[in-house]
Amino acid sequence: MSNKNHLLQPMLNISPVIPVLVIERTEDALPIAQALLAGGLRVLEITLRTANALEVIREISINLPEAVVAAGTVTTPKQWHAAAQAGAQFVVSPGLTAPLAHEAAKAPVPLLPGVATASELMTAADSGFECFKLFPAQHVGGVGLLKSLHGPFPHAVFCPTGGITPDNAQSYLALPNVACVGGSWLAPGKLVQAQDWAGLTELARQAVALKGVYSA
Ligand code: 3PG
Repeated sequence: MSNKNHLLQPMLNISPVIPVLVIERTEDALPIAQALLAGGLRVLEITLRTANALEVIREISINLPEAVVAAGTVTTPKQWHAAAQAGAQFVVSPGLTAPLAHEAAKAPVPLLPGVATASELMTAADSGFECFKLFPAQHVGGVGLLKSLHGPFPHAVFCPTGGITPDNAQSYLALPNVACVGGSWLAPGKLVQAQDWAGLTELARQAVALKGVYSA
């Protein structure tokens, strides 16, 4: 079955961490994105959890072409198309439904579907998916689960997300089946409210530095 999911692999390899962003105020979109880019993180996931999320995706895509913008929390084909139209280069879902799997062959951009079990992975693989978000990673088995899945599913590539922190990220990034991790710690509400963009850049720098550790 034709499925654009394999196109995700190079995008997942760009940065060790994908910031998962909930941006409440559209005017914060560019400063947040610029701060994270300045720290070396190019792939940014904008969750569709705010009314202005599509506007935020549009703003960043148009003004910061060096960013690879993803839409997160996409749960319907309608949202998938709207996000792509707004400029998202891929979309991320916490799970995978039949309508989303069915859409994969004709959607304009790839989907990174969430899985939490071997059966979910097998169902997704039947629809042509090979890159997955393990979600919520830390709560469904974390590093141990990923190690166990690598044996029977050596070609599956993961972006674990959910409960990842600077303290446990390295243990995920050291795994052969992990391309990158996702996390919301890169843009804490406190720093965003204080417009501490330099603080965000520093968090991004520290996240990029995780790469040196796991590829050493
Ligand atoms: C989410 O969907 O919010 C992501 O999984 C981020 O989770 P985190 O807040 O635990 O990083």
